[in-house]
Amino acid sequence: MQQPQPPKFPVCPSAALADGQHRKLTMVFEGRKEECLLLRFDGRVYAYLNRCVHMPPRLDCEEARIFDATGRHLRCSMHGIVYQPQTGASLSAMCEGERLRSVGAYEEEGEVGIADFRVAAAGN
Ligand code: FES
Repeated sequence: MQQPQPPKFPVCPSAALADGQHRKLTMVFEGRKEECLLLRFDGRVYAYLNRCVHMPPRLDCEEARIFDATGRHLRCSMHGIVYQPQTGASLSAMCEGERLRSVGAYEEEGEVGIADFRVAAAGN
């Protein structure tokens, strides 16, 4: 029997999301309006709620970029917590063991987007 597939919300063509880049979108996640970050790292796409684990601010609350200067980590621009892009885990002593909330992402047929049962709607 085929497993049910999560709803898909296309965001942009694959070619429009290069390594180290991200897109922001708003979505209805678990019944609440949330901002989401869709990003590419080492060729793969990942998505997270745009909420720092430390305090309510968004990762890009002070600076537009979400990757740190090395391009190897995500970084909250408020107090500088860094995260592993593949898992959303905090790599900083502050909030060690916590992680960004992951959202299902997909890439297929030249398109990237969100694919998650918890998402009811998504757009820019
Ligand atoms: S609010 Fe993100 S590091 Fe403090």
